[in-house]
Amino acid sequence: MESDLVDEFEEGIVLNDSAYNRRLEAKAASFSINGKRYEVSSLPGNTTLNQFIRGHAHLLGTKYMCQEGGCGACVVAVTAYDVISKKPKVFAVNSCLVPVYKCHGWSIKTVEGVGNARAGYHEIQARLASNYGTQCGYCSQ
Ligand code: FES
Repeated sequence: MESDLVDEFEEGIVLNDSAYNRRLEAKAASFSINGKRYEVSSLPGNTTLNQFIRGHAHLLGTKYMCQEGGCGACVVAVTAYDVISKKPKVFAVNSCLVPVYKCHGWSIKTVEGVGNARAGYHEIQARLASNYGTQCGYCSQ
């Protein structure tokens, strides 16, 4: 029997096309956020990744404002399999626009995964705080 698993990377996985399509039809997704694995199967189909991150993973560092892809407050980093290069690829997504069931196989990093009080802040986070920046600092002058 052919395996559904094509490859694994960090916390992400890659499924062959038929396995991926079966997952979408079954309304189920498996992905990781900051290294923690999540299985989703009982949420409404219109649940966004942003709603999942904030309401289910309880990671409130990822914000939202416009909820239509315009402000960038909800951006997270995603590592996913690129079918062209056949390698994991890192890209940014507006989590307010992405259905959570689209995230199958993704490794997602939020601001808490970049740095936090327990593990230590990333240099950029520390500089932002030391210069009185708040949140993302997008509006700072
Ligand atoms: S909330 Fe504004 S781009 Fe997502």
